[in-house]
Amino acid sequence: MLTKEEAIIRIQQLRDILSESNRLYYVENAPVMSDYEFDMLMKELSDLEKQYPELASPDSPTRHVGSDLEDRRSGNREFAQYPHRYPMLSLGNTYDMSEVEAFAERAAKGIGNAFTFSCELKFDGTAICLTYRDGMLVRALTRGDGTVGDDVTENVRHIANIPQKLHGAGIPHEFEIRGEIYMPYKDFDRLNLERERDEDPPFANPRNAASGSLKLLDPEEVGHRGLECTLYHILGEGLPFETHDQALRTAQGWGLPVSDKRKVCKDISEIEEYIKYWDTGRKFLPFATDGIVIKVNELPYQRQLGYTAKFPRWAVAYKFKAEQALTKLLSIDYQVGRTGAVTPVANLEPVQLSGTVVKRASLHNSDQMSQLDIRIGDYVYVEKGGEIIPKITGVELSRRGDDVTLPRFPDRCPDCGTVLVRDDGEARFFCPNTDGCPTQIKGKLVHFISRKAMNVMAGDATVEQLYSLGLVRCPADLYSLTEEDLLRLEGWKERSARRFLDSLEASKKATFDHVLFALGIRYVGEATAKGLASHFRNIDALASATKEELLQVEDIGEVIAESVVDYFRDGKHMEMISRLKAAGLNFEMTGPDGPVSEVLKGKTVVISGNFSIPRETMKKLIADHGGKNSGSLSGKTSFLLAGEKPGPEKMKKAEASGIPVVSEKEFMDMIRAGEHGTGDQAHGPEDGAGAAGAEDGSPQLTLF
Ligand code: IVH
Repeated sequence: MLTKEEAIIRIQQLRDILSESNRLYYVENAPVMSDYEFDMLMKELSDLEKQYPELASPDSPTRHVGSDLEDRRSGNREFAQYPHRYPMLSLGNTYDMSEVEAFAERAAKGIGNAFTFSCELKFDGTAICLTYRDGMLVRALTRGDGTVGDDVTENVRHIANIPQKLHGAGIPHEFEIRGEIYMPYKDFDRLNLERERDEDPPFANPRNAASGSLKLLDPEEVGHRGLECTLYHILGEGLPFETHDQALRTAQGWGLPVSDKRKVCKDISEIEEYIKYWDTGRKFLPFATDGIVIKVNELPYQRQLGYTAKFPRWAVAYKFKAEQALTKLLSIDYQVGRTGAVTPVANLEPVQLSGTVVKRASLHNSDQMSQLDIRIGDYVYVEKGGEIIPKITGVELSRRGDDVTLPRFPDRCPDCGTVLVRDDGEARFFCPNTDGCPTQIKGKLVHFISRKAMNVMAGDATVEQLYSLGLVRCPADLYSLTEEDLLRLEGWKERSARRFLDSLEASKKATFDHVLFALGIRYVGEATAKGLASHFRNIDALASATKEELLQVEDIGEVIAESVVDYFRDGKHMEMISRLKAAGLNFEMTGPDGPVSEVLKGKTVVISGNFSIPRETMKKLIADHGGKNSGSLSGKTSFLLAGEKPGPEKMKKAEASGIPVVSEKEFMDMIRAGEHGTGDQAHGPEDGAGAAGAEDGSPQLTLF
């Protein structure tokens, strides 16, 4: 058991790892760990928070679902965001059958009557919430952070099995239906082949491909991605269903896609049988599943059991462990990445794993190698997590022979021979020859032109040729290339050269945050670049910022601040930036787009207390809907938006000055009303709340 001091440190570590991992998974579609590893770290954090309740925090990842919301701090608005009518929660999950039994027992105790379970596949895709009004699809929101979602309606209209219009009798005036958008394996394979051909980075798995495709800006292209949808949860006011199974069967009758692999089970032994069947059966399905969802089937009992802050008490997910294979470790390569990090990669005796042949696997870093106590010649366990490269998770010591050899992590860069360094607190060794090591130069060029950076239509192979012909040594050289230079590349004709030059020209339109990300400053990822760009607005202000000034920016800590200062202190970098400026790249933020709605136009809002969404998201919502956020109450304040535990001084002052106090729920209703323009849609769909109901139930009408 950890002491309190140790727990404080570990809790902070776990929160950082889990938050960053959530962001990479949901926003960047680039997972860094398997679901199993993630779930185990989450369990460790949740256990520590239970053990030391005084260390619990409303910001902890144990209290929020991961967020897929696009980061729009750069003003680079891609999707409008709207609040969910009902929070979109996640599911409690387990890998342990005995916890499924415990769930069934808890449910039986809470219900106290006979009931049944609905068992379903857990589709491995990205969650979606569809709203149908008068039988027509009117809105599709992603889960977002559970409270607010991205509006992807136009994209969803291009998914073939989602009906625009429902048919049949008894369709409620308005209801929501939630489910999963996923990409079948065959479409995933086809997409990755196309991406390889276009030199775009492949998606790590069908889930990432589905969520990346759902967030495309071109709805027509979404239609070509082969996405499919399955729906599993209906919500609305006064819906006429007794059981979940009946609700889904009825929805299917209206033309909605519902899985036919569901089964109503009457007890734990039937649940176990279902799980066992699909643990094998899923390997033959044409799409990815990562477990089984077990739900209480009777809707009144679901309501009786209710919800925790994050999960329903009436459902649980049993997750399948990733498949493992045992094979022999033949050798280890040490690869240098674009940031100079040296990663050990194992060469394996080829082995079948989840439908593909695995020959190489990641070993992460030298600490991982020591922890595993791995030897060349050992039999090792390989696992496919969410990532594209499988990893080694263990060594089968019982099969260790006499002829194994201890691997030696190199002390010099395998590419340029420079002595490797390891910074304090870093698990990885780095080659410090940042501007001279060929692999790092090429890696930086590939990063610079990548889709999320300057989005130039080329990839590794083109960079390799440009480098080996001596045509390009740094990103600024790209913008001096001529058609004549490009015709020297093997297989290139006038057409390919023109296409490349046009694409370089188009890249000059990339916004400042993309350019900043493209520079490849160590630790400055996409989100950090957006944060820095929107804070400093231009490169000169950023380049002259001190470490203290950088630390003022949200989410910037010591490590990133130091890395940014170091980068701009280097004369070579400044020279390259002036060349890029001269080439016409954007080193300045242009103004943000217009608001999503004008429901808060002319309103000044002060916020206080804790909310179910991060404070920054709340501030963004205010701005997105035309309002202004202010830190303190004054004569100009339109209302005080009060969360849980608002500041007592602010509450007193608001009351004394007659400033209205609005709760989080009232605020969300207000925004929802603005989204429809009139405010009369923010109410229960078919419970008789027409225009009159809107007037007496709705705080926005009395406020403004
Ligand atoms: S029910 C209140 N049923 O898994 C929660 N979810 O890890 C309602 N999922 O957030 C969710 N298949 O995105 C439900 N048959 C299924 C599912 C399913 C996949 C996803 C869903 C959920 C996540 C939890």
